[in-house]
Amino acid sequence: MEKSVDAILSEAKLPNLMTPLPGPNAKAVIARDAQSISPSYTRGYPLVAKSGRGAMVEDVDGNVFLDFAAGIAVVSTGHCHPRVVKAIQEQAAELIHISCTDFYYPGLVELAERLGAVAPGKEAKKVFFGNSGAEAVEAAIKLARYHTRRDKIIAFQGCFHGRTMGALSLTASKAVQRKGFGALLAGVFHIPYPNSYRCPHGNPSPCTCVESATYLEREIFKRLADPEEVAAVFVEPIQGEGGYVPAPKEFLVELQRICRKHGILLVCDEVQSGMGRTGKWWACQHAGIEPDIVCVAKGIASGMPLSATIARASVMDWKPGAHASTFGGNPVCVAAALATMDLLESQYIENARRVGEFLFARMANWPARHRIVGDVRGKGLMIGVEIVRDQKTKERAGDLREAIVDLAFEKGVLFLGAGENTVRIAPPLLIDEEQAEFAARTLEECIIEVGKSA
Ligand SMILES: Cc1ncc(COP(=O)(O)O)c(C=O)c1O
Repeated sequence: MEKSVDAILSEAKLPNLMTPLPGPNAKAVIARDAQSISPSYTRGYPLVAKSGRGAMVEDVDGNVFLDFAAGIAVVSTGHCHPRVVKAIQEQAAELIHISCTDFYYPGLVELAERLGAVAPGKEAKKVFFGNSGAEAVEAAIKLARYHTRRDKIIAFQGCFHGRTMGALSLTASKAVQRKGFGALLAGVFHIPYPNSYRCPHGNPSPCTCVESATYLEREIFKRLADPEEVAAVFVEPIQGEGGYVPAPKEFLVELQRICRKHGILLVCDEVQSGMGRTGKWWACQHAGIEPDIVCVAKGIASGMPLSATIARASVMDWKPGAHASTFGGNPVCVAAALATMDLLESQYIENARRVGEFLFARMANWPARHRIVGDVRGKGLMIGVEIVRDQKTKERAGDLREAIVDLAFEKGVLFLGAGENTVRIAPPLLIDEEQAEFAARTLEECIIEVGKSA
């Protein structure tokens, strides 16, 4: 008899370590990797993955880990969800590639219709498909310039939008990401990102940081760029790579007001925060704003490479030939995305909200209980735990964060860092309370252990 999806996903729910880490097979792969793989990647601890199921990943030595990183917030429905795998297999047997640049196929239209239907705002949407988050951002930059016939762009300090030259021009996360690459796109201005815990304008915490929006009118429009020349403001509603920092609702509402007033397009980069991760389809929905363009990737197809730039139909007015991609909207990726949307809609967005609330409640008082935790924040299953050397001075403790993440790996739970000193909590959206509790307990143990020697 065929096993049920639930039975498959609940076979192994917690870590099981068989060897010291890294094990012998992992060591061998890592040694070969050093000889042949681009040294630009930033691996932390030595996980060498072999297979994955649900929220679990098995390495090449048979060690099983609980995955609270989800391949950088990508495997939204978990690893190899049986329904996603089936959709991929069936599509692969039927049609692997055709290129939507030149030809039509039904899945592409269905996915665009469904993304358009769940995107914020009443106006009908049109969708451009690419292969990565950076490509979704590139398309948004070009579309904003094309549609408005303006060339200036506003982005935020600390934000990450990708690493291709256009997207990199907006990225202001870590200097190493820009170093050595010379001049980037002209006419991009970066302004302070709101941060309720560390208000960039010197206000006490918690802060709504509305001044980060009004900074545009007070500073940028007066001194650097006339608003009539500004095509778009790009913002992450929750800063991802920058440290899992949610933008306060008041700030986002004010930002939208300023954009509307000056005919500037508001672009929400939901590459990391979108596709249900925060317990709603889009993080910007928590603030009730309606961006003109939404950039989507990561969780959209449960790990298959796909991105979408979703715009109001009246904004996506470029002409044939203006922009395209050979692989973008690949049929197999589209099939995976349709299966992903089914699962998110029927179960996992609600699960992200529910288990996210459980997890947050479990961790909210950590700043009162652990002197190296400065702040716990986030929405749904997008939660950041900021590690500091001193709660009063808020001195960032990147070294302690690294030690905590490494120790969690040794205990069988995969986390990633975000920003200089934050632990990123971004599990697949199907985790249950037992897994959430296990991960929280493990993280807390690591914080206590590392805190003792700090
Ligand atoms: C908000 C955001 N935008 C864009 C990107 C770039 O995505 P990709 O790495 O798929 O190009 C990322 C990746 O982390 C991201 O978090």
